[in-house]
Amino acid sequence: MFKWFVLLCVLALASAELQRIKIHRSEHKRDRRHVKQEVRSLRHKYQQLIQDYVIYDNGQPDYYSDYTEFTTEELGNSMNMYYYGQISIGTPPQYFNVVFDTGSANLWIPSAQCLSTDVACQQHNQYNSGASSTYVANNQNFSIQYGTGSVTGYLATDTVTINGLAIANQTFGEAVSQPGNSFTGVAFDGILGMGYLTIADDAVVPPFYNLYEQGLIDAPTFGFYLARNGTSEEGGQLVLGGVDVSLMSADLTYVPVSQEGYWQFSVDNISWNGYLLCEGCQAIADTGTSLIACPSVVYPQINQLIGAVLTDGSYYIPCDTLNSLPVLSFIIGGTTFELPASVYIQVFQEEGNTSCMSTFTDIGTEFWILGDVFLGQYYTQFDFGENRVGFAPLSN
Ligand SMILES: *[C@@H]1O[C@H](CO)[C@@H](O)[C@H](O)[C@H]1NC(C)=O
Ligand SMILES: *[C@@H]1O[C@H](CO)[C@@H](O)[C@H](O)[C@H]1NC(C)=O
Ligand SMILES: *[C@@H]1O[C@H](CO)[C@@H](O)[C@H](O)[C@H]1NC(C)=O
Ligand SMILES: *[C@@H]1O[C@H](CO)[C@@H](O)[C@H](O)[C@H]1NC(C)=O
Ligand SMILES: *[C@@H]1O[C@H](CO)[C@@H](O)[C@H](O)[C@H]1NC(C)=O
Repeated sequence: MFKWFVLLCVLALASAELQRIKIHRSEHKRDRRHVKQEVRSLRHKYQQLIQDYVIYDNGQPDYYSDYTEFTTEELGNSMNMYYYGQISIGTPPQYFNVVFDTGSANLWIPSAQCLSTDVACQQHNQYNSGASSTYVANNQNFSIQYGTGSVTGYLATDTVTINGLAIANQTFGEAVSQPGNSFTGVAFDGILGMGYLTIADDAVVPPFYNLYEQGLIDAPTFGFYLARNGTSEEGGQLVLGGVDVSLMSADLTYVPVSQEGYWQFSVDNISWNGYLLCEGCQAIADTGTSLIACPSVVYPQINQLIGAVLTDGSYYIPCDTLNSLPVLSFIIGGTTFELPASVYIQVFQEEGNTSCMSTFTDIGTEFWILGDVFLGQYYTQFDFGENRVGFAPLSN
């Protein structure tokens, strides 16, 4: 009995340094329309880094700011596959599910003062500042652009609790209006950005900075294990304050962050079946998207290589070639990371037909955006202390 007690104490001490947060994975019905919507949303997210337009295969420029051509039906959820976890805000705690998004740096959740016509808000948990004894008013408005419009509201300051760690005086957005259908029918209430302060709207200090500065975690680093076959029950793990070596089968390969904003880094080269797609390319690790965006020049090239044909704005391969397609190889920090075709091709059932769609998309950037398609294959560490990103093969 005593032995067990001692052992449990030792275990408790040893794990006190690492905070493990269970995350959930949600996958809605996905089809071409949903993917298009996510592409649109991604363009807005990276708006500042995007060239004005790209010329598409049909010779027509596609202006990214012009959304009037789309019907309301097409403007569906901007995120159809995502990973989320629980936080609480206020005293006593009010609970919210948020997407832990390394591609942004603000926290926002729906407000109890949202418009009655705001469908997304009515479907979700709402923050009621009046019910929190630790709420501090902040007379500033906030607005964040998404694919179909802006999330707007005002800033509030309160205690934000993640895995029992209470961050005092965290400022965040209370959304009174959410655009169109962007956030309707999704399992998360809001978004918790985990990028650098430099990309935070209104220069609001992101929760992870305060978590570390208030001494709640030992080191300013966090890691994601995103289970590719995850479910809403078990979707992976977010580890705060250190590295959870039990989740990986080899050491992390670290590369420096090349520009502090997004989690951007250099990739030695990317190749497919011996074809060099790029050398010394820039990439961004973004847990908030499921796609892989490639530079505009690479987009037609890579889709052509895998035998994909442009149909109605998206690239498809004949499904019977799926099993024979070679891997896509990334050399990062001298280590090779591979993506099998079963990961970079998505199989959809549409009206009785099976279609095999390429997950490589183009949002008009000169860099790659590695979303969950890539991050689901590897454990990824985001280290603010040393300004570096690390990747490792998953254990098991
Ligand atoms: C915030 O937005 C509201 C509504 O748009 C506006 O009336 C108010 O003046 C704004 N407040 C500040 C401080 O900008
Ligand atoms: C939070 O703000 C209150 C009031 O301004 C202050 O007394 C307290 O020290 C702050 N706590 C932290 C951890 O910053
Ligand atoms: C995911 O599940 C499918 C079907 O159960 C299986 O074929 C595939 O190998 C699994 N993938 C991973 C990465 O475990
Ligand atoms: C890819 O990068 C590695 C360095 O990590 C280098 O050794 C190799 O020659 C490169 N391959 C090509 C085809 O450039
Ligand atoms: C399904 O595939 C068949 C054969 O290729 C085609 O004729 C039919 O139009 C497709 N149906 C839909 C709804 O796309």
